[in-house]
Amino acid sequence: MAAPTWSWTLSASLIVTLTLTLVSVAYGNSEGDALYTLRKSLSDPDNVLQSWDPNLVNPCTWFHITCNQDNRVTRVDLGNSNLSGHLVHDLGKLEHLQYLELYKNNIQGSIPNELGNLRSLVSLDLYNNNISGTIPPSLGKLKSLVFLRLNNNRLTGPIPRELVGILSLKVLDVSNNDLCGTIPTSGPFEHIPLNSFENNPRLEGPELLGLASYDTNCS
Ligand SMILES: *[C@@H]1O[C@H](CO)[C@@H](O)[C@H](O)[C@H]1NC(C)=O
Ligand SMILES: *[C@@H]1O[C@H](CO)[C@@H](O)[C@H](O)[C@H]1NC(C)=O
Repeated sequence: MAAPTWSWTLSASLIVTLTLTLVSVAYGNSEGDALYTLRKSLSDPDNVLQSWDPNLVNPCTWFHITCNQDNRVTRVDLGNSNLSGHLVHDLGKLEHLQYLELYKNNIQGSIPNELGNLRSLVSLDLYNNNISGTIPPSLGKLKSLVFLRLNNNRLTGPIPRELVGILSLKVLDVSNNDLCGTIPTSGPFEHIPLNSFENNPRLEGPELLGLASYDTNCS
């Protein structure tokens, strides 16, 4: 009589435990899934992403990842890592990310609009890559941003006016791209030195404003 009850209780509690574990793994690793999507989109000849195992509970033990006390990702440090390939829009899911460091690689393609969702971001360093397309106006939503370095890429189009609203911005560098239009002068741009804009043949400096004819081809 006792045996069937015992085994029923055992399997019921096993099912409950299993369900709870699956739910917590699925929830806990959504940031790991986003980063694993990035890994799959990159070519990594030096195997710097080898420890990025999506089966772990969270990505906090992966190399080049830093988490806070709640196991949420705060840093991605992959500068100078010989990576090529593309960025992914899933990066926009890392709500607590403060530092996205991907400088000095050979990343191609465009900057995902979704990076504008990274409300905690302090530093976006994508300089010295092979990034094309335009600077997303959504980056104007990054109200904690201090460092925005996009220099030495192949970016085109204007400097979005939305960036004028990032009052925390201290360091901006977009030199050595193919941007066009005029350089903003208000807000944080009052204190950005002109060499942060150099080597964009179609970008017109504020010192020329009175004379410059607007480049109608810049959009
Ligand atoms: C970068 O990767 C390439 C292969 O794609 C390799 O030939 C080269 O040695 C690597 N460079 C460094 C600095 O590791
Ligand atoms: C940069 O990307 C383009 C494609 O967008 C490619 O043709 C070119 O070879 C890349 N440059 C380098 C240095 O890899």
